[in-house]
Amino acid sequence: MKDYYAYHLDLHQKQVKDAKIAFLPGDPGRVTRIAGKISRDYQELAFHREYRTAYLEVGQIPLLITSTGIGGPSTAIAIEELAQLGIKIFIRLGTTGTIQPFVNLGDMIISTGAVRMEGASSHYAPIEYPAVADWQLVNILAETARTSGIPVHCGITASSDTFYPGQERYDTFTHYVIKRFQGSLEEWKNLNVLNYEMEAATLYTMASVFGLKAVAVSGVIAHRLDQEMCAVKEIPAIETKLALLIQHSIPAIRNLL
Ligand code: URA
Repeated sequence: MKDYYAYHLDLHQKQVKDAKIAFLPGDPGRVTRIAGKISRDYQELAFHREYRTAYLEVGQIPLLITSTGIGGPSTAIAIEELAQLGIKIFIRLGTTGTIQPFVNLGDMIISTGAVRMEGASSHYAPIEYPAVADWQLVNILAETARTSGIPVHCGITASSDTFYPGQERYDTFTHYVIKRFQGSLEEWKNLNVLNYEMEAATLYTMASVFGLKAVAVSGVIAHRLDQEMCAVKEIPAIETKLALLIQHSIPAIRNLL
């Protein structure tokens, strides 16, 4: 086995064993919380900067849960290094703010594609290149959510480099949003975009460029038609749903390898 060492993830090739599937929350705290809901036998392999990795097996299928930090640049580093460690399937586990009235707090959104409002993806492909999910992963996760009784919506996401102005939030230091983003929430809503988050476009562009597979599923913690704030109290239930989705979808996902 070649001994590749991933510098930012602080992971040696040998440590990840034969894992080909990685789940990617942004928050390092979510790595062990979700791993612990799935298996008592998970191993924490590394924790360097925003990158924390746990190894676990679900029905003898090896997998990693690795945090990416927030946004495109740190996510791009995680994907680069995980791909070099042999990961073929990337599943982002996130949180999000919806901009559609028919989506509720606590619902799940599976991003079929992402508006490339971030910058990192343009270092991998020109802006005309689409940021799209792997359709088989979308199908597997949507069906798993449906059969598990988890409310789910599939559609387009807007991935922003900023949480505040790029998502047209005014509850900020200056209370000012530059002209480019004034009215943008209403416009994305009219264009049937479901939600804002910060990583899917980078993940999808890189996975397609690399010839690998990716999907992003996010739990809704902000209803942007009502308020700008996030409903933090939704997070524990969302993490439970994300852990359930992993457990129930792994056999079908493994068949894609
Ligand atoms: N993550 C985001 O990027 N935006 C939100 O509103 C909530 C979570």
